[in-house]
Amino acid sequence: MAKMEVKTSLLDNMIGVGDMVLLEPLSEETVINNLKKRFDHNEIYTYIGSVVISVNPYRSLPIYSPEKVEDYRNRNFYELSPHIFALSDEAYRSLRDQDKDQCILITGESGAGKTEASKLVMSYVAAVCGKGAEVNQVKEQLLQSNPVLEAFGNAKTVRNDNSSRFGKYMDIEFDFKGDPLGGVISNYLLEKSRVVKQPRGERNFHVFYQLLSGASEELLNKLKLERDFSRYNYLSLDSAKVNGVDDAANFRTVRNAMQIVGFMDHEVESVLEVVAAVLKLGNIEFKPESRVNGLDESKIKDKNELKEICELTGIDQSVLERAFSFRTVEAKQEKVSTTLNVAQAYYARDALAKNLYSRLFSWLVNRINESIKAQTKVRKKVMGVLDIYGFEIFEDNSFEQFIINYCNEKLQQIFIELTLKEEQEEYIREDIEWTHIEYFNNAIICDLIENNTNGILAMLDEECLRPGTVTDETFLEKLNQVCATHQHFESRMSKCSRFLNDTSLPHSCFRIQHYAGKVLYQVEGFVDKNNDLLYRDLSQAMWKAGHALIKSLFPEGNPAKINLKRPPTAGSQFKASVATLMKNLQTKNPNYIRCIKPNDKKAAHIFNEGLVCHQVRYLGLLENVRVRRAGYAFRQAYEPCLERYKMLCKQTWPHWKGPARAGVEVLFNELEIPVEEYSFGRSKIFIRNPRTLFKLEDLRKQRLEDLATLIQKIYRGWKCRTHFLLMRKSQIVIAAWYRRYAQQKRYQQIKSSALVIQSYIRGWKARKILRELKHQKRCEEAATTIAAYWHGTQVRREYRKFFRANAGKKIYEFTLQRIVQKYFLEMKNKVPSLSPIDKNWPSRPYLFLDSTHKELKRIFHLWRCKKYRDQFTDQQKLIYEEKLEASELFKDKKALYPSSVGQPFQGPYLEINKNPKYKKLKDAIEEKIIIAEVVNKINRANGKSTSRIFLLTNNNLLLADQKSGQIKSEVPLVDVTKVSMSSQNDGFFAVHLKEGSEAASKGDFLFSSDHLIEMATKLYRTTLSQTKQKLNIEISDEFLVQFRQDKVCVKFIQGNQKNGSVPTCKRKNNRLLEVAVP
Ligand SMILES: Nc1ncnc2c1ncn2[C@@H]1O[C@H](COP(=O)(O)OP(=O)(O)OP(=O)(O)O)[C@@H](O)[C@H]1O
Ligand SMILES: [Mg+2]
Repeated sequence: MAKMEVKTSLLDNMIGVGDMVLLEPLSEETVINNLKKRFDHNEIYTYIGSVVISVNPYRSLPIYSPEKVEDYRNRNFYELSPHIFALSDEAYRSLRDQDKDQCILITGESGAGKTEASKLVMSYVAAVCGKGAEVNQVKEQLLQSNPVLEAFGNAKTVRNDNSSRFGKYMDIEFDFKGDPLGGVISNYLLEKSRVVKQPRGERNFHVFYQLLSGASEELLNKLKLERDFSRYNYLSLDSAKVNGVDDAANFRTVRNAMQIVGFMDHEVESVLEVVAAVLKLGNIEFKPESRVNGLDESKIKDKNELKEICELTGIDQSVLERAFSFRTVEAKQEKVSTTLNVAQAYYARDALAKNLYSRLFSWLVNRINESIKAQTKVRKKVMGVLDIYGFEIFEDNSFEQFIINYCNEKLQQIFIELTLKEEQEEYIREDIEWTHIEYFNNAIICDLIENNTNGILAMLDEECLRPGTVTDETFLEKLNQVCATHQHFESRMSKCSRFLNDTSLPHSCFRIQHYAGKVLYQVEGFVDKNNDLLYRDLSQAMWKAGHALIKSLFPEGNPAKINLKRPPTAGSQFKASVATLMKNLQTKNPNYIRCIKPNDKKAAHIFNEGLVCHQVRYLGLLENVRVRRAGYAFRQAYEPCLERYKMLCKQTWPHWKGPARAGVEVLFNELEIPVEEYSFGRSKIFIRNPRTLFKLEDLRKQRLEDLATLIQKIYRGWKCRTHFLLMRKSQIVIAAWYRRYAQQKRYQQIKSSALVIQSYIRGWKARKILRELKHQKRCEEAATTIAAYWHGTQVRREYRKFFRANAGKKIYEFTLQRIVQKYFLEMKNKVPSLSPIDKNWPSRPYLFLDSTHKELKRIFHLWRCKKYRDQFTDQQKLIYEEKLEASELFKDKKALYPSSVGQPFQGPYLEINKNPKYKKLKDAIEEKIIIAEVVNKINRANGKSTSRIFLLTNNNLLLADQKSGQIKSEVPLVDVTKVSMSSQNDGFFAVHLKEGSEAASKGDFLFSSDHLIEMATKLYRTTLSQTKQKLNIEISDEFLVQFRQDKVCVKFIQGNQKNGSVPTCKRKNNRLLEVAVP
């Protein structure tokens, strides 16, 4: 997205006024107050039109950051608050885009910040111009030339810790794209007197201190130097150290810078050797030695230093020594050698030191130029930066100050000329009527100094070249004669009576009313300094040096090129170079930075109004403003003007369709600005009075507030509306979704209801159809049946006569057959279980099948019994046979019988075989024992009972004693005739014996046993199988028993409860034995 252009203006957020052209009312006081107000708010830059006024803040401000560079890059001059970057940008862009060579003229007094300003301009241009390895190297070399020149050309003075003691003009060259190609530096008049003598509180050039502090011991030894400053006469001691300045670190910086600029190691070495030689020269001292002719001749006191110098520089010691004692004057091929007295020797020494140093400095500048010069021959665009020493007014002003101030006069001159010229040109360009402007033109002062016939410099030269005795006084006299009438020249000695009584004007001085103030110059030294004399002996000695650099510095020392013509004087040299400079500057588009020093203390935050007032005065700032405002105070191109004020008129706001100029016209008419207050140029509107501009500004401010309110209003409205629309949209979306959802739900409900109803209806319909179909079917069936019956009836009616005779019988048989068949088939499924004791049997279906049914039951029972029996083993069979026998014999006859059914018949209860007690008994019986059981034998006499072992074998019945096992009786079975017993529930039984048999002699036996049924059954079966005769078993409650001869009746009485459940037997009389059965 394109960056949104924010249109700002210098007029925004102004502290005081950013452009003093707008100052109202305009006076010295308001100018100073405005500067002060801005200075107090850290706004150190203020404009006068396109001129930048810079007040030295004496502290680092955060206004030179890369971000600031970006801010000012490609912005219009009046768009942002005043800044040196704005001027730099304007100059650079005008150079790059409009192909106009530029010069940046930085003026101001010592310590006002000129050098800093020049560096800021250079660094800005370096930051915004092209990039790339080669370009960056050029930039770096240009920037690094500064520390080198500052080390050799700057010094601490009372006014400035880093005062430039030379003038510097640097041309930076660019190609058509605006990329830097290289540069050329011109230097102007180094203050070389400083090398040998410094005013109180000041220092020599930085390089001496830097060398002594920063050089390694090894380097110092090589240069034959000592670190101690106090060892050197040329170094003033009272301010050898400068606060906040690290000489040692600066030395490293300088060496590094020299390397970047392109100095070779041996070159750096040579330079330092020259510096060392200069330092050591100061230590050479002279003593007078009387000569025969009565004159004093100077002799070197201590030759050690001289020796070292000669070693360092490769000069023949005797040559140099002689040069300090003699002076050879050549005239008309004649050489005259005169001796030097001590003062002359010192003069020669100092002159040598000064020359050596100043020539070294010039050499350095040339060497740098060699490095930084553009490598191509293509046409170059040039931006010149002039950082020249500022106007100087000291207590003692000498030749240097005169020269410096002359230079400043010239600059002021060019400033006035160019400013006015530009103003005039602009008016012409814009087709505005030119009005004459009153201002002070310093051309007259320049003329006083530089006029070729009667200018001060011409006088000085004339005096220097004149034969005869020439002194500073004769020079002053000459001045007094020639310049006395000049209104800017003041001298006590002049014929002009104006200054005869002016005690502030000493006799040996003259005063010039410079544009920046009156300066009193001491004439002493003028002639000498202008001559800048170095005895030929010395220059020749130097030329003879083995040191290549030193040799090259003194070309006039070459005897082959001896030139008897006097070298040009310092004054004329300077005048010439200034003239060249001025010419150069005039070809370029000037940009001014006028530096102001806010206080004398080099301190931040202090604004000395008196001091500033003085500078404002001599810089002619007020005039500058006036010139600028002479016709019209403010001018602005139509587009930005319309852009800025278009909101003040309905026709132009918010958009003006036509040309900008017409828009501004409409605007100004609408605002009813008096016509004399403004003029329309070709491309700019010119406003005569700042008041009009401020009125416009006020209106604009007010309107902006209204507009802000309007924008706010509209924005709020828009915001609310957008919000509302959004809400509405959201509501619609929600409603739509909800409706959809609700409809969906309803639809689903309806659908499911419809389905239910549908299914019910379908069901109902289907059922109805089914019913109908069923009905139809039944009807059809009924019809068929009826038809069948009907047919049957018909047929029967027809055939009745044929079938009547036997149909009934056949039908009956058939039906019967069917019933029987059915009966049997059903019986097959109804037969009960195969258990013989299962009493179940299906009921009879038809009465006529009763007998069949019963028979079937019987057959079935027999069959299942047989089935049951078939499962038995032989042993089981025997047991069941016995049980069956018992059943036949006793069932329903003897009450005891039922209880015996469940008891298995065991036969031998006593284990005769195993019990050793009965061994005898066993041995006696050879047959198989069928029964062996203990029974009670009823005593025939009393009815009491005794226990006897009852044994039944195949053929015999045996009784044995229970204890001894001895056989008591043995009855063959053939002799047993009958067995009697009651019908009751008792175990009594009588065994009747055959009358007449051997066994019967003792009569029948009457026993009682728990196993009566078994015994009787077994006895019956054994007898039957042995004798083939059925044993008679009589069951009766009264029977007779044969006891020996007597027959005794045994009678069973029921219901005696006396002895519990045990039957008791009692002999009633001879004939009756009563057994009571419970
Ligand atoms: N823009 C600035 N920001 C911060 N400090 C500054 C600025 N300009 C100047 N100074 C301070 O003021 C001192 C003097 O400035 P500078 O050396 O530029 O003065 P000058 O005008 O070149 O003086 P001279 O004529 O003696 O060479 C600087 O060393 C620096 O400390
Ligand atoms: Mg300076």
